[in-house]
Amino acid sequence: MKKKEELENLKQECQGCMKCELGKTRNNIVFSDGNPETAKAILIGEAPGENEDKTGTPFVGRAGKLLNEFLEKTGIIREKDLYIINTVKCRPPKNRVPSDDEKAACEKYLLKQIEIINPKVMIFCGATALKSFYDKKIQISKIRGEVLELEIGSKKRKCIPIFHPSYLLRYHSLEEGSPRNLMLKDLNKIKNLID
Ligand code: URA
Repeated sequence: MKKKEELENLKQECQGCMKCELGKTRNNIVFSDGNPETAKAILIGEAPGENEDKTGTPFVGRAGKLLNEFLEKTGIIREKDLYIINTVKCRPPKNRVPSDDEKAACEKYLLKQIEIINPKVMIFCGATALKSFYDKKIQISKIRGEVLELEIGSKKRKCIPIFHPSYLLRYHSLEEGSPRNLMLKDLNKIKNLID
């Protein structure tokens, strides 16, 4: 079966999901964005926000727009190079961080998406994504930009944590060592890994 078909079947399964409380308040599941046939990296964010819940597409609000700007600056093509998902498929009320139980309920879908796409690189975008797969106590600022070899599903994968764009909305400087400057460096590194 082609990747697109497999993912479409999984999406159908997801549509009616009521495995956690988030199913009661969502308007739409936010399954993914990107081209499964050409994507070389999976980018995992935290959770859908208001705009994502309305549209069913990840990273379309303010944070998503800033992410797009950074991708453009580094030559990563969102529609071609990335397959974008979140740790959970449904919006947590008031945009709170998803709970461990909610993430666990959604994990089956996430792992299946990773298996089907089989990306060269996994990008953990922000602390919630990082903590879903790695040491819960580590700070993103201490480990961002490092290439980690982690067992995900039953396969070793290259994973890189990066800052979440919502964090970058608070900082505007591009000077050496600033959050935006580090984000550009990390995305350039990712670009080299996927090329
Ligand atoms: N923030 C996220 O982590 N994911 C989205 O899809 C939107 C905002």
